[in-house]
Amino acid sequence: MAKQLDPAWKIPEHVAIIMDGNGRWAKRRGLPRNMGHRQGGKAVEAICEDAYHLGIKYLTVYAFSTENWSRPQDEIAALMNLLRSYMKDCVRQAEKNKMRVKIIGDISKLDEDLQESIRNLVEKSKNNDGLCFQIALNYGGRDELLRAIQGICQDVKNEALEIEDISQNLIAAYLDTADVPDPDLLIRTSGEQRISNFLLWQLAYTEFYFPDVLWPDFTKDDLIDAIAYYNTRERRYGGVINV
Ligand code: FPP
Repeated sequence: MAKQLDPAWKIPEHVAIIMDGNGRWAKRRGLPRNMGHRQGGKAVEAICEDAYHLGIKYLTVYAFSTENWSRPQDEIAALMNLLRSYMKDCVRQAEKNKMRVKIIGDISKLDEDLQESIRNLVEKSKNNDGLCFQIALNYGGRDELLRAIQGICQDVKNEALEIEDISQNLIAAYLDTADVPDPDLLIRTSGEQRISNFLLWQLAYTEFYFPDVLWPDFTKDDLIDAIAYYNTRERRYGGVINV
């Protein structure tokens, strides 16, 4: 029987996912790695719908990191082609599910046609009030912080800001995730337990969950397990509870 949410559970408002294990999924089946990414893309589509129906408001996925450029050229090309077709298909999915799509990361390094599809998807979905779906593309937490610091320095230089104005809230507003609350729950699939330069600023008080399932096999039941785990955690934000 399909798993169900316990009505007493708190639902994390923002879930972030490091979608790991596509390569191993393919290898176990004797398939090329690219087939693992393709199956991983299908899992992304399904999990956006499931997340929304379970009451999650923000979902962020790590699709391509600033470090992924070091992969073999043919794997990079296959991932970019997958993203190309995904951006086009996603316009329909966003319309159907009222999903708002945002991109975090530096897309200026991507091919011009892919940038154009991304801009089109973001623009067409910007007024939707369903799931806010953030896709991290050519994203690295250190790169995001570097770009935010450059932006702040530029505005100080232009006299739009005073050094005294720089606060934690101001830094957050210069990040790619401005206006999106920090993740409550981070899931990394495939049993690996690293954050790999993902959302370095935003994960300060996030709960971490590391299931063994490989990303292409991740289903709604796994998401429900993650929410169940989240409900066993006591979030203290550096304070004390039950003294
Ligand atoms: C990590 O698995 C996965 C990636 C680097 C790419 C993630 C991309 C997708 C799931 C598909 C496209 C995304 C969207 C938004 C449509 P790995 O290749 O490192 O796996 P391995 O550790 O088993 O080798």
